[in-house]
Amino acid sequence: MDSHSSHLNAANRSRSSQTPSPSHSASASSSLHKRKLAASEDHAPPSTSFPPSSNDDLESLSAARGADSGSDPDESEYAVHDGYEEDFAPEPDHDSSIRTFTAARLDVNGSSRNAKIKTEEISTVELQAGTGTAGAIAPKDEAAKILTCGAYIAREEALRREEEAGRLKFVCYSNDGVDDQMMCLIGLKNIFARQLPNMPKEYIVRLLMDRKHKSVMVLRKNEVEGGIPLVVGGITYRPYHRQRFGEIAFCAISADEQVKGYGTRLMNHLKEHARDVDGLTHFLTYADNNAVGYFLKQSFTKEIYLEKDVWHGYIKDYDGVLLMECRIDPKLKYTNLSSMISKQRKAIDEMIRELSNCQNVYQVAEFQKKEGGSSKNIRVEDIPGLRDAGWTPDQWGHTRYTLFSGSGDSVTKQKQLNALIRGLLKTMQDHSDAWPFKEPVDPLDVPDYYEFIKDPIDLKTIGKRVESEQYYMTLDMFVADTRRMFNNCRTYNSPDTVYYRCATKLQAHFFSKVQAALQSGAKSQ
Ligand code: COA
Repeated sequence: MDSHSSHLNAANRSRSSQTPSPSHSASASSSLHKRKLAASEDHAPPSTSFPPSSNDDLESLSAARGADSGSDPDESEYAVHDGYEEDFAPEPDHDSSIRTFTAARLDVNGSSRNAKIKTEEISTVELQAGTGTAGAIAPKDEAAKILTCGAYIAREEALRREEEAGRLKFVCYSNDGVDDQMMCLIGLKNIFARQLPNMPKEYIVRLLMDRKHKSVMVLRKNEVEGGIPLVVGGITYRPYHRQRFGEIAFCAISADEQVKGYGTRLMNHLKEHARDVDGLTHFLTYADNNAVGYFLKQSFTKEIYLEKDVWHGYIKDYDGVLLMECRIDPKLKYTNLSSMISKQRKAIDEMIRELSNCQNVYQVAEFQKKEGGSSKNIRVEDIPGLRDAGWTPDQWGHTRYTLFSGSGDSVTKQKQLNALIRGLLKTMQDHSDAWPFKEPVDPLDVPDYYEFIKDPIDLKTIGKRVESEQYYMTLDMFVADTRRMFNNCRTYNSPDTVYYRCATKLQAHFFSKVQAALQSGAKSQ
């Protein structure tokens, strides 16, 4: 027993290292708020001609254009004319259609989002050059090289190459009346409508076409579907320039392209764009259960660090969903993360190689063959790499060879070993510092002991094992048990406790006896 119950009190226990960390409390406690409207325009009831009601309705394009006031188009990537006016002051909620939307969004049973098949393999992102499908275009040896770097880098790298090759394009568009861009927005609207089935289509169109909202999207260049450039997915957000944060309204990737890295790359482009073009420092979004996992992987947190004054009343409040935040790093080159991570890995790998010789691989199988295939003939010191790893013959793991490899059959050797172990156990039991270790810890006396000590051991249990004469086949097995007993004690108790001190003193006594036994054993051989 390494922590005597009758002596134990809370003050002399030390478990600081194991104190469970406080559980994360989702900051969605405010999720019961009624939605407040930041910009009344966003939430005004749809006009008769806008938004379109049909999912794939190209007529919506002309309807949306009707809302256009002739902003100046700019087709360059990320050069978007927001057409937005200064942010509106918060207004009370009078929009019943939004409440309907809230209810619809909360209808978890009705959720019919695409089930995702998580595929980590590079093969899932492999692209046939020319077919336009996204993924690795690297030659096989290159792909293998990427694989060793992890799935994240592999996917990012593959998509980056697609971009460089001109097959993929990341753009930021808003409702500016330019044909091509409007068609892309319609394409994105169709994806949102399919991937977010609980979201009213009118609401999607309203925000998507709202001039204060922008959409970063990924396009497959030179491909057209029904007259609309092939949109793979996108994120629609509203930048609040004065507050320096953006609210993500929708985010989706088309069904057949999910879990290939597009969502991540899109988010990386969005962060760069929002920082460099909009001057934003944070993103906020309301995520439902289906989306929390994805946002967490994009560095969103459940804790909101932004001052409430900054965002409260500006963004929409939803019931039952989680508000999440993402801080945008002021310098990070988000679209080049994969090469940055690769370089860091390489640097760490080089440092590890400098400090250790873990890169050396020894062919133990060949060595065994050389030794006749039988482990009986193998001497520990001859095992390749053992000495390089820091092993020395005086280590205890070796004792059974020096003590009991002399004359005599195996029965005699086992008897010798048992006698030695019995003697060592007795020197411990008789020691004045052995009292905390004599019995197993009683959970009634120390209720949380077994929460922290998962592999308990005590002198009584060791004694039973010794008595069986079959448990400890080697001295090192016995030593390992005692070592664990002392370590358990020092893990649970703090250094200033009597238990900790007993463990240290008894262990020193025990080790000196073992050392003496080893030396006399060595002399007698
Ligand atoms: N829940 C948990 N994890 C998810 C996830 C989800 N809904 N969607 C993706 N992920 C994970 C991926 O497995 C991957 O993890 P890994 O890096 O450990 O392998 C990581 O997030 C990034 O995946 P990626 O391939 O870049 O994302 P994606 O292209 O599939 O896009 C979504 C992610 C959520 C945009 C896409 O799945 C989607 O359109 N879903 C339906 C609409 C939706 O739920 N939108 C979000 C709320 S508006």
